[in-house]
Amino acid sequence: MPGGHIISASILAADFTRLGEVLRETEAAGANWIHLDVMDGHFVPNLTMGPFIVEACRRVTDLPLDVHLMVESPEGLLPAFAQAGATWLTVHVEACLHIHKTLEAIQELGVKAGVALNPGTPAAAISEVLPLVDLILVMSVDPGFAGGKYIPTVVDKIRLIRKWHDEEKTRGLISVDGGISVETALSVSRAGAEVLVAASAIFKHPQGIRAGVEALQASLQATPA
Ligand code: DX5
Ligand code: ZN
Repeated sequence: MPGGHIISASILAADFTRLGEVLRETEAAGANWIHLDVMDGHFVPNLTMGPFIVEACRRVTDLPLDVHLMVESPEGLLPAFAQAGATWLTVHVEACLHIHKTLEAIQELGVKAGVALNPGTPAAAISEVLPLVDLILVMSVDPGFAGGKYIPTVVDKIRLIRKWHDEEKTRGLISVDGGISVETALSVSRAGAEVLVAASAIFKHPQGIRAGVEALQASLQATPA
């Protein structure tokens, strides 16, 4: 984990006809976590995977499974994702009417609880749950698809959350998701992000998965741990 960063490889851009092989390659390439984007066709305009895919991944890799729920009112689905083997379950603050209760429910299932913020949501939206969360996922694209357009103003939001972290208002890991590439990774990392989620930069790299992971790691090496 060079520089203390966690690379979370989002399989949304992977070749699903060979998912098992892809997961083994991703693990061997040095990715730290596998990120799974769950989309419901309501909260975001796309439909992707459910607990069944999480369970299939769990059988192939020992890496932590970083499950990102882009789902309206996800409460009822949490036990199924926990049962399927999710290590982290991240819900959107915009999608949960009772975010405090939902985060507690995730932890009661024995899973680490994350909260995600869309690009248009201010950091202040999570101020009341800061002591509770294990992970804060800052979206740097509007969610729904891999290959979205990176929104550079996210750096200020990460910097503010990092400040809260340094002031011990939260112990949550700071994660950034969307448009992370060799061009953007260093600036989000310098702002304070510890987990970098990437789909296209890894799974659409012209030289393959290993080259994608290694290029991201190399782009981060100028950053202190
Ligand atoms: C976007 C998803 C992201 C996405 C990232 O809605 O939450 O995890 O897979 O894709 P890239 O890295 O291609 O922007
Ligand atoms: Zn995601």
